[in-house]
Amino acid sequence: MHAPNPSAPVYSDTVVRQFALMSVVWGVVGMLVGVIIASQLAWPDLNFGIPWLSYGRLRPLHTNAVIFAFGGCALMATSLHVVQRTCQVRLFAPGLASFVFWGWQAVIVAAAISLPMGYTSGKEYAELEWPIDILIALVWVAYAIVFFGTIGIRKVRHIYVANWFYGAFIIAVALLHIVNSAAIPAGAMKSYSAYAGVQDAMVQWWYGHNAVGFFLTAGFLGMMYYYVPKQAGRPVYSYRLSIVHFWALIFTYMWAGPHHLHYTALPDWTQSIGMVFSLILLAPSWGGMINGVMTLSGAWHKLRTDPILRFLIVSLSFYGMSTFEGPMMSIKTVNALSHYTDWTVGHVHSGALGWVGLISMGSLYYLIPRMYGRTEMFSVKAIELHFWMSTIGIVLYIAAMWIAGVMQGLMWRAVNADGTLTYTFVESVKATYPYYVVRVMGGLLYLGGMLVMAWNVWMTAISGFSRPSPVPQPAIAHA
Ligand code: HEM
Ligand code: HEM
Repeated sequence: MHAPNPSAPVYSDTVVRQFALMSVVWGVVGMLVGVIIASQLAWPDLNFGIPWLSYGRLRPLHTNAVIFAFGGCALMATSLHVVQRTCQVRLFAPGLASFVFWGWQAVIVAAAISLPMGYTSGKEYAELEWPIDILIALVWVAYAIVFFGTIGIRKVRHIYVANWFYGAFIIAVALLHIVNSAAIPAGAMKSYSAYAGVQDAMVQWWYGHNAVGFFLTAGFLGMMYYYVPKQAGRPVYSYRLSIVHFWALIFTYMWAGPHHLHYTALPDWTQSIGMVFSLILLAPSWGGMINGVMTLSGAWHKLRTDPILRFLIVSLSFYGMSTFEGPMMSIKTVNALSHYTDWTVGHVHSGALGWVGLISMGSLYYLIPRMYGRTEMFSVKAIELHFWMSTIGIVLYIAAMWIAGVMQGLMWRAVNADGTLTYTFVESVKATYPYYVVRVMGGLLYLGGMLVMAWNVWMTAISGFSRPSPVPQPAIAHA
């Protein structure tokens, strides 16, 4: 081993550390709002008659906070960590990276203020009004410059597969955001979509589905390809499969959006194309999941003692489950039952809590101690506790929603011999009540786990020190 070279450049980790910490903070906030809206569905009086706390305003606050603040900060922290390590250079334009951090936090704060005030464009997952949309576009372009600039100045010829997934996520989200947010302003916080009628719906769900495919999936697969091998201490099971996985996944996702618009005014053939591509999507999704899980070949025993690895591998099981369920729900006859019911919400959260949540937490548990000059978190026992709280929380949440969803679908379609409906709508709402209460309990457990994580991260940060890590130098430089 060479002694560290004091003049060696160091990785630009300040921004990685900042994003990692904020991911935990926004995770707590977003999940707390999730628990509040879950409670409002069970006990509607909990909005206390205050417009700011009404369900319709808090629901988009929840989705924006968990997807873009919690998930977004985790994606930015890990992508900027991974790209430096796999390219063996420090970030291109660290000043711009700092702008990305502060700009993204400004977007989140603007969302947290404007959504409860009732400002919304009405497009799901793209609710923010046009001035905030412009800020998002600027921050995103800066992020792309930092990420691809770093790849451009890399010292390693090969571009590791994790960077391909992060890169696709960055490019696709820029494209989706700019196209779907095109609007005519009609005041400081009011705009009208540039599209009308069924075209507007199609563009919105092209966006919406690819937000799932690229924001909630491709970027997190980037995490999988770096942190699973790192934590398992094994190379990726099949590098060749990872390349096939990449191209098949990004090609297929783009066409599946119409499955959100079954039985609407969208032409029938378009709906069928959406269904067919969704069915095809099962193959690349499972190829990737198997590649991640099989990376543990020969190291399965580590699952017994390593709670971080358990987070990562259980997240892949949920990924496999939700990407099996999604194609099934895209079959038109199945969708006729599941659409509008809580089955969809169960599907969403098996992906969101199980896949996105757990892979982020596992990756952050690997990353955060290293950002503070430590090899592990302050308390491994607390990681273990967090793992069980979140896993039990997810099972309660999604099992309740599946039962409630199928029950609602069956109640709504039940008809008497004379052709009248067997149940009124409100009877289905009453029947759903116990399941909503179980969901609140699951949500509380999941949120509780996140609070345990926040404590552990805080203790790790204050007992470690933020020493910059040197970039490994080519052997010749030390000769
Ligand atoms: C403590 C944890 C959480 C709880 C209690 C919770 C609760 C809820 C509730 C009650 C809804 C509204 C459902 C409805 O309108 O019928 C919702 C929607 C949603 N949540 Fe969560 N959530 C949690 C965590 C998360 C996380 C971590 C994510 C993403 C990473 C997420 C993503 C979403 C999405 C995308 C929707 C919209 C679903 C749809 O339109 O079908 N949630 N959540
Ligand atoms: C092969 C992969 C997948 C396919 C084919 C798929 C398919 C579907 C289908 C058919 C729906 C119901 C649409 C409706 O009836 O309105 C849906 C909803 C949804 N899925 Fe998936 N899904 C997949 C994976 C995932 C994953 C991994 C996540 C999360 C990480 C996810 C998040 C969502 C969300 C957020 C919605 C609700 C959208 C809304 O109405 O607001 N999906 N998906």
